[in-house]
Parts: sequence; C-alpha cells; structure tokens
Amino acid sequence: MAAEERMSTWSDATRIVREEEEVEPESEVQGESAAAAAGSSNNDNHSPNSPVALITAGSAGVGAATARLLARRGYRVVINFSRNTERARKVVGELQQLSCLPAHEIQNEHGNAYLAIRADLGSREEIGRLVCETVVQMGRLDVLFSNGGWTKFRDMTSIEDNTIEEDWDMCFNINVKSHLWLMQAAKEQLDRTEGAFITTASAAGIYPSGSSLAYSVTKAAQIHLVKNLAVMAAPKIRVNSVSPGLLLTEWSDRFSEQAKDAYRQKTKLKRFPTVEDVAEQVLTFAKSKSMTGVNIPLDAGFIV
Ligand SMILES: NC(=O)c1ccc[n+]([C@@H]2O[C@H](COP(=O)([O-])OP(=O)(O)OC[C@H]3O[C@@H](n4cnc5c(N)ncnc54)[C@H](OP(=O)(O)O)[C@@H]3O)[C@@H](O)[C@H]2O)c1
Repeated sequence: MAAEERMSTWSDATRIVREEEEVEPESEVQGESAAAAAGSSNNDNHSPNSPVALITAGSAGVGAATARLLARRGYRVVINFSRNTERARKVVGELQQLSCLPAHEIQNEHGNAYLAIRADLGSREEIGRLVCETVVQMGRLDVLFSNGGWTKFRDMTSIEDNTIEEDWDMCFNINVKSHLWLMQAAKEQLDRTEGAFITTASAAGIYPSGSSLAYSVTKAAQIHLVKNLAVMAAPKIRVNSVSPGLLLTEWSDRFSEQAKDAYRQKTKLKRFPTVEDVAEQVLTFAKSKSMTGVNIPLDAGFIV
C-alpha cells in the first residue's frame, strides 16, 4: 500500500480523501497519548455530549450493521476500514441519514458526528494512530467495537492444508494481537468514560469449525484474551465478545452454497444468524453496566 494511502483519513462524507501533506503531522497525533490529545487546549473540534463508538472493520458486514444501529441510538460513530474508501464513504453518508441526533450535532463548525478513518489492523502503529485520531476528532471514546478478523480458507479435513506458517502469523496478528493493541491504545480513554471494549470472535473459536485451523484456534485465543482483559481492565472498563456462526456477509461468500446450506440445516433454528443480531448484542454489551468477561455465541443453535 502506498504511503499516501496508509496515511489518508477523511472526516466527512463529502470531503475527498485528504492527501498525505494535508493530514495532521504524524508526530502531533502520535507523539502524545490519546488522553493528552483529547485534553489539549487546541482540541475543540468536537461536540462533547453524545457518546462515541469506534468500530474497526466498520465499512461492511457486522461492523457496518453495528454502526447503523449505534447511529440510530444516538452514538457518534467512527468506522475504520483499510482499502475501499468509496464503500466507507457511503456508510458514513448512511449514518448521517439514520442518525437520531439533532442536525446541528451531526455536522457543525466543530466537526462531524460520523467519520471514517483508514488504518490497517495488521499494523500496531496504525492502530495507535486510529485511536488517537478518533479521540482528537471526537473528543471522547465510550465504546470500542474491535471487529476485525482475518482468515485464509483451507480444507478443514486436511492437517497438511492447515500448516502454512503465513496463515498462522496473519491469524495471530489480526485475530489476537490487534485486539490487544486496540485495548492498550484505548484504555486511558475508556477508563475516563467507564466504557466498553467488545470484540467479534466466532463460533469457530468455541468448537472445531470455520474456514481454517489457524482461524478457529486464534478465535479461541481471542475469547480467552477477552476474559483476561476483563480482569485487567476492571473495575472501570467492561470487556466482552460475541461469537457469531455463519453470517451471510462478503466474508462468507467464499463458502460454497452447499456448505452454507449444510450449516443452516444443522442449526436448531434452521436459519443463519444475521449481522443485525450481532449488532443488537454489541449494543447490549455497550449499555449493560453489569456484564464483563462474557462470550455470547450467536449461531442459531448450530451447537446446543
Ligand atoms: N461472516 C461470517 O460468517 C463470520 C462468522 C463469525 C465471525 N465473523 C467475524 O466477524 C468479523 C467481521 O466479519 P464480516 O463478515 O463482517 O467481514 P466483511 O463483511 O468481509 O467486512 C470486512 C470489513 O473489514 C475491513 N477490513 C478488512 N481488512 C482490514 C484491515 N486489515 N484493517 C482494517 N479493516 C479491514 C473491510 O474494509 P476494507 O475492505 O476497506 O479494508 C470491511 O470493512 C470478523 O472478525 C470475522 O472473523 C464473521
């Protein structure tokens, strides 16, 4: 990815992606903690009242569905993406339309209630920048929905096909480490707001299934990470995960129709869970002051 692409962010639905030289100098954002940036005297580009959610991998599938629900429920929302600027721009436009905030809070001289920020979840440095930019632009952070995941589809009947080292490295990097780096970067802000850190794990992390052995094992590690983080981040921050079964997103387009149908037939409820189901669960986690260290399977009864 070109340097200018990596560093581009944009802060409203109509603004063209900024060129690298127009972006805040990296040192000004990355050289101080998110909390310090938020508290700095020249940080007045936000309206401070409504809560703020940062949703990683937020321009499609589960992330976009959750962004829509949170916008309807009064949250200001930052969605993260890595490649498809146009798609992220469209989702931001939708969020503005769906918002229940008064018009003067959606867009005003202080900034915008809905933003998209490009950052690659495979890079710890970009994760730090993503959280810093979110706080600088929005002034606070109440919910971090850490929704990114990675897999390479492999033959789940073959050990040999599941021993590719690059798959394991990528899976650990995105499915486990990226969530830890996000938590670390956001902790100070979430402490201030007594906020929620929520991740999307997978039913494949609960029982042997899914797209690859590396995916299944690292999603199990993610669930365990979340439980440990719940202990470490208490008493102020609640940390939970949701584990969907097969969702009909772009991600699962890579399963054959036969495999998808076999999944549905095996569920007790004879249906696929939906991205809206996941979004509702994320909202519950965001609001509940009494849930932490929990992983909720949402698999339509695939395994009971
Ligand atoms: N779909 C399922 O059946 C299923 C089941 C269980 C769990 N899950 C989990 O649910 C989560 C979301 O999956 P989904 O099905 O909603 O995916 P999706 O529809 O394929 O959406 C992927 C999103 O991730 C972004 N993205 C991809 N690579 C990224 C990167 N390196 N850095 C930042 N953003 C990146 C994409 O934006 P760009 O294209 O612009 O980068 C897009 O916004 C994942 O953690 C997945 O493991 C999915």
